[in-house]
Amino acid sequence: MGFVVFYSLIISLWVLDEAAAAVVSCQHKCGNLTIPYPFGVGTANDCSIDNNDFLITCNDTFEPPRSFLGGLHVTNISVVDGQMTVMLYMAFDCSDNNIVDKYSWANLRKFTFSDTRNKFIAIGCDIQATIEGKISGSYTTGCFSACDSIDDVVNGSCVGIGCCQTAIPKGLQVYDVRVTSINQQRRNLSFNPCSYAFLAEESSFSFSSTSLQKFNEQTVPVVLEWTIGNQTCEEAKRNSTTYGCGPNTHCYEPGGAPGYRCNCMDGYEGNPYLASSHGGCQDVDECNKSSTCNGLDNICKNKNGSYECSCPSGTKKIFARNSDAIFDCHRPSTKPSNKILIGGNTVEFPCGNSSK
Ligand SMILES: *[C@@H]1O[C@H](CO)[C@@H](O)[C@H](O)[C@H]1NC(C)=O
Ligand SMILES: *[C@@H]1O[C@H](CO)[C@@H](O)[C@H](O)[C@H]1NC(C)=O
Ligand SMILES: *[C@@H]1O[C@H](CO)[C@@H](O)[C@H](O)[C@H]1NC(C)=O
Ligand SMILES: *[C@@H]1O[C@H](CO)[C@@H](O)[C@H](O)[C@H]1NC(C)=O
Ligand SMILES: *[C@@H]1O[C@H](CO)[C@@H](O)[C@H](O)[C@H]1NC(C)=O
Ligand SMILES: *[C@@H]1O[C@H](CO)[C@@H](O)[C@H](O)[C@H]1NC(C)=O
Ligand SMILES: *[C@@H]1O[C@H](CO)[C@@H](O)[C@H](O)[C@H]1NC(C)=O
Ligand SMILES: *[C@@H]1O[C@H](CO)[C@@H](O)[C@H](O)[C@H]1NC(C)=O
Ligand SMILES: *[C@@H]1O[C@H](CO)[C@@H](O)[C@H](O)[C@H]1NC(C)=O
Repeated sequence: MGFVVFYSLIISLWVLDEAAAAVVSCQHKCGNLTIPYPFGVGTANDCSIDNNDFLITCNDTFEPPRSFLGGLHVTNISVVDGQMTVMLYMAFDCSDNNIVDKYSWANLRKFTFSDTRNKFIAIGCDIQATIEGKISGSYTTGCFSACDSIDDVVNGSCVGIGCCQTAIPKGLQVYDVRVTSINQQRRNLSFNPCSYAFLAEESSFSFSSTSLQKFNEQTVPVVLEWTIGNQTCEEAKRNSTTYGCGPNTHCYEPGGAPGYRCNCMDGYEGNPYLASSHGGCQDVDECNKSSTCNGLDNICKNKNGSYECSCPSGTKKIFARNSDAIFDCHRPSTKPSNKILIGGNTVEFPCGNSSK
């Protein structure tokens, strides 16, 4: 509860279950990180969805304060993608033997490493790196790189000269990374004092000749995929007390690991894990954008989850080529016709169908 007092950004949150509804204060910011529901800080007041897997600890001995999820340092949480970014340690091997940590490992109890956003990357001119994981059985993959001259290194190109990389399978929850030399003893390369291997968010890393120097950081960002619970949507919907999706949402199973996620239905916006009135999925008023009905002349009517465009009286809808949704409103020409030429196509438009 201490954090609730110290932080300025406190958001009021209604728990989803109307029967147990009560206004509670939950901390949804830690340092620079916004912590959206189903994540939350502190075990009081059901601030996170299950007071376990989504429970964030905010440690303010760091400046700015850092968020931890079961020991993992969290730096970004995305509700729309069902992803989060955490910082994990690299494995490394230096030729002067002063600093050696040839192994790194990670074990996610519930979440998985994103196979689309991460790559296993090894950096060095005398490196053999492996990543060993478990899906249902165990598997091992990796890559190696050897080079004699820094002049052969091409910036931005991780293709085996000073840098190699490989993809990881979907559903990975546990890994062991190991760095070894191609021969017994690591070669003492003046331009490459240390070898490194790590799983990392691919877009966060750009290889260059300076990557072969010593790294200052020992951690790298890794993207995780999260799901709610361990049931299918079908199973979860059977119990409305524990079902995690709010109103105006649809439920889906991303695969890779058990559990489901929620998204707002088309035409709705918000946090799909919350009640509509408390930041959940609400109808988007498309009509408040002047572009929606293609100009000020048209009449826009907002509907739940959608909108409808019509033409002012005295004008007619003329549909765009190959579309039954895009149209313009035109005053009938003095020469009556129910056909018009648009972009070489003859397009018919309904007569006498304009709104009053
Ligand atoms: C916060 O981090 C510091 C430094 O790592 C650690 O000593 C302390 O135990 C942590 N506090 C909490 C509440 O986890
Ligand atoms: C994070 O917060 C600190 C203050 O706590 C601020 O100085 C810094 O600029 C922020 N960083 C980012 C990336 O927002
Ligand atoms: C957080 O993640 C989202 C979705 O992946 C991304 O769009 C956003 O740029 C990230 N924010 C930061 C500060 O990295
Ligand atoms: C590697 O080279 C550095 C200087 O280039 C030297 O100080 C160090 O002793 C060498 N290490 C080994 C194991 O030969
Ligand atoms: C590669 O990038 C590094 C730093 O990013 C730069 O110092 C170096 O000159 C670049 N090399 C080439 C060949 O562009
Ligand atoms: C699913 O989650 C529930 C509640 O966390 C747990 O009791 C159960 O053992 C889990 N089932 C499986 C098959 O993992
Ligand atoms: C729904 O889940 C709650 C909490 O786990 C449980 O107490 C209740 O019996 C379940 N209801 C049904 C219909 O299964
Ligand atoms: C349209 O509505 C949204 C949400 O209600 C609001 O955030 C936005 O500022 C509005 N835009 C205009 C142009 O009024
Ligand atoms: C949208 O649906 C809600 C109930 O689900 C209703 O109260 C509201 O009037 C509807 N709004 C429109 C614009 O149809």
